[in-house]
Amino acid sequence: MLAVACLIAGGLWIGLHVNLLPDSASVNAPIYDELFKVLFSIGAILFLGMLGLVIYSLIRFRRRDGETGEGIALEGNLPLEILWTAIPAVVVLFVGLYSYDIYERMGGMENMNQSSHDHSSMKTEQRIWGGIGASTSQLDSQRGLNPLPVEVTAMQFAFLFHYPQGDILTGELHVPIGRPVSMKMESNDVIHAFWVPEFRLKQDVIPGQPTILNFTPNKVGKYPIICAELCGPYHGGMRSTVVVEEPDAFDSWLSKNSKQTASET
Ligand code: CUA
Repeated sequence: MLAVACLIAGGLWIGLHVNLLPDSASVNAPIYDELFKVLFSIGAILFLGMLGLVIYSLIRFRRRDGETGEGIALEGNLPLEILWTAIPAVVVLFVGLYSYDIYERMGGMENMNQSSHDHSSMKTEQRIWGGIGASTSQLDSQRGLNPLPVEVTAMQFAFLFHYPQGDILTGELHVPIGRPVSMKMESNDVIHAFWVPEFRLKQDVIPGQPTILNFTPNKVGKYPIICAELCGPYHGGMRSTVVVEEPDAFDSWLSKNSKQTASET
């Protein structure tokens, strides 16, 4: 009992104190990190527990001097078998339900509803993309700010970002801190995936079926955008950058680039 208590305490300590994740730069990130801490704690407890049992068995049941043969064959311990079936079942059930809850809190189910019901998805898109002022997700609506619309086009092997406001086309995503961003993404060729580890967000970009990704950045900095779906020989090079900046800096970037576009055309 003491060993099990120490194991659980040690696993929890590792799960809560060892941080393997990159910077956290969106409102989503703390929700995701909560799940990661729980999974990491469970993983640490199971890993250390099994490792401990293996090492204990290696020492306790080693072949001693003068011993020959295979040792005693043990089989058929019903209570033990029930226990080692029940524990993983409970753990897996808990992890499944908890992950679902986290996914829902991050607005994942909302996006799924948008893409699974074609007719309502048109309306939802109209709501976000037609009328500014509509809320984009549970998280974003809390902030009460107009979402910034960005159209994303993925292709072999780049992301292109188009800002309807100012008609800017760029390969580098710029977003202001603290304001919800609503991205409508579509692919020109094969399936890609938009991934920003610091935002804890990943969404497939699919040809012929737009996907919506909403997020609110909350830390100034430059973060990598990585394609997370094997999409061809240069998949590994399909990277870009998202620049999260203060509203003033973003506004000046926006006006500077929309002027350039205006003078070019
Ligand atoms: Cu695009 Cu991998």
